[in-house]
Parts: sequence; C-alpha cells; structure tokens
Amino acid sequence: THVVTEACIACKYTDCVDVCPVDCFREGPNFLTIDPDECIDCAVCIPECPVSAIYAEEDLPSDQQHMIALNAELARLPGWKSITKRKGPLPDADAHKDQPGKLPLLKR
Ligand code: F3S
Repeated sequence: THVVTEACIACKYTDCVDVCPVDCFREGPNFLTIDPDECIDCAVCIPECPVSAIYAEEDLPSDQQHMIALNAELARLPGWKSITKRKGPLPDADAHKDQPGKLPLLKR
C-alpha cells in the first residue's frame, strides 16, 4: 500500500485525490489517509502532493513507520469519508507545511 505521512497533518492540500483511480483516500478534519484495503500501489498520487507526504510503504522514511498502522486505523473510522475531488488546503496550510513532528496536531 501507499501511506500518507505526518507532512499532510494541518495542511491537507488534497491535490492527491484527483488522480487516485480507485478513490482510496479518506478525509479527516486535518489529514487524509489511504485505505490500505483499496490502494493498488499505482503511485500516481506521490508527485501530486506539494509537501511530498505520500510514500510507498517500502520507501517510508524510518521516522514515519508508525504511519502504516495509523493510516489503516484512521481509514476504518466511520467519520472518515471518501474524498475524490480536490477542495483546496486548510486555511493555515502554508504556515504548517515545513513544520516537523506534526503528529500531536492530528485531529480525529
Ligand atoms: Fe495531504 Fe498532500 Fe494529499 S498534504 S491531502 S497528502 S496532497
């Protein structure tokens, strides 16, 4: 599967969803997750993300390994619905885009 990493948190640019052929993105308040049961590993979303938040599982940086389980967990939350059309980033996305360690900011 492919995995959305912490770089997405508090940004949520949403460019990624337009290109997904299987509609595997799920939307939370300030993060998108990939449903690992739906992702077909096509990788077309990777270059679309302005903050390079998306990785193939096997290419994940060592400090983002926890995001594999978190993507799967969040994708199962009933409130996290499918998103298939770009809607623009969160209002303060640019202020957060280069911020490291954003996990504490994640909202469910
Ligand atoms: Fe997040 Fe990047 Fe998509 S910031 S919503 S993974 S375009």
